[in-house]
Amino acid sequence: MATPDQPAGRGERSIVITGFMGTGKSSAARRLAQRLNRPLIDTDDEIVRRAGLSIPEIFERFGEAHFRGLERDLCRELAGQPGLVIATGGGMLVNDDCRALMLKSAFVVCLDASPATIRRRLGEASGRPLAANWEALLAQRQSAYAAIPVHVDTTRKPLWQVVEEILRLWQSASSR
Ligand code: S3P
Repeated sequence: MATPDQPAGRGERSIVITGFMGTGKSSAARRLAQRLNRPLIDTDDEIVRRAGLSIPEIFERFGEAHFRGLERDLCRELAGQPGLVIATGGGMLVNDDCRALMLKSAFVVCLDASPATIRRRLGEASGRPLAANWEALLAQRQSAYAAIPVHVDTTRKPLWQVVEEILRLWQSASSR
């Protein structure tokens, strides 16, 4: 069992898929978990399950700050748990403490996509309280995402290719 003093070996570390809304985190993480036969945790789904409320309901009833608190608690809980594939909500690792914690304990991949791709993907799905203002939000978060060393661009790539790229990066990081 990994502890803060005895982190998991490189190959056993959890893989964290993060990045802005609409970059394809959930699909990539789901496929990756299948490929590696690892449990999948989607932090949005986990927060919804525990709260018994949808994300828009949590924002509406308790506000964004409350949601961010739930995200921070979950991040602390998951950091250091080895062997998982974790898809984060787009804002989780924008928080400096959460980002530092995950970068220390897991293999973190930030997915990127072109603005046109993000616009199209956000148009296809509802249930994102911050989607209306996404361009300003993305600009504001650029430096936080840039602080993550490993990136994969998902623009115009089929899912299998995104997953292969993540696997290759993970394998090469794990063998170092
Ligand atoms: C958010 C992204 C959403 C969800 C919430 C807030 C954000 O997750 O956590 O609506 O702040 O970027 P996805 O990135 O999976 O859409």
